[in-house]
Amino acid sequence: MTNQTQVQTPITQAHIDFYRENGFVQVDNMISPEELAELREYLEEAMQNDGDRAVNTDKKGGLYYRVLNQKVNVWRDHAGMGRYTAHPRFAESARLLAGASGMRLFHDHGLWKMPGDSKETPWHQDTPYWPVNEKNPGMMSIWLTLDDVDERNGCMAFVPKSNRLGKLKGIDLTDPQNIFDYVEGGQADTQKPVIVPLKAGSCTFHDGLTFHYAHANSTDRPRRVLAIIYMPDGVTYSGDAHVITDGAGLEKGQPIAGPRFPLLAREG
Ligand code: SIN
Ligand code: NI
Repeated sequence: MTNQTQVQTPITQAHIDFYRENGFVQVDNMISPEELAELREYLEEAMQNDGDRAVNTDKKGGLYYRVLNQKVNVWRDHAGMGRYTAHPRFAESARLLAGASGMRLFHDHGLWKMPGDSKETPWHQDTPYWPVNEKNPGMMSIWLTLDDVDERNGCMAFVPKSNRLGKLKGIDLTDPQNIFDYVEGGQADTQKPVIVPLKAGSCTFHDGLTFHYAHANSTDRPRRVLAIIYMPDGVTYSGDAHVITDGAGLEKGQPIAGPRFPLLAREG
């Protein structure tokens, strides 16, 4: 007998159906106004604080310069962020959408799109960058915005069903190629993006194979986002070098697990 209480989520059957059909979904009011205020404070602290586990990738001349001020694994340096990144409501929402029996944390990142000479985040898939063997691993992200977003300050756009195109070549974000050129045939059907403006505290979920893009930030304030990446329990490590898996004691070909990749949601 168990006395586990069921985790409450805002996910409806309509969200699940939309996600499985299109490879992304919008979910409004994922967090309360009180949580939003707290999360803004924590993430601001985590982005400014130079801890020794999180990794800042916005170096001049680097991959994300002017595209994103990005800090990876903020949960490992900031206890408050640890609570939000591991939040059962987010992880259980991801699990329900993906239909997985268990969901592990892969990593989190603060994604600040800074004002002033801001660049768009080019169209890309996420999965090709990750050191996993599976072609369709079911890995996915929650993209939770701490500011109202629209086309003026870096809201996201998605190409519905583009996840069905499978794992393509990862594009180089410093010298972005047109990912649509990698799609053979039937391009018209794969080029109708849906732009998703959101209110602060709302979010999208997207499959790591879904084509997505974010507009440049032409306002005078940062666009602040927490993204958390989840992987279904059992996804295996390819052995390729990656900032998230390096030094984690993983074995090539074995499921990714251990304290850096905690199981955050499970069925039942
Ligand atoms: C962005 O926030 O600009 C991009 C996020 C993503 O690529 O998932
Ligand atoms: Ni992405």
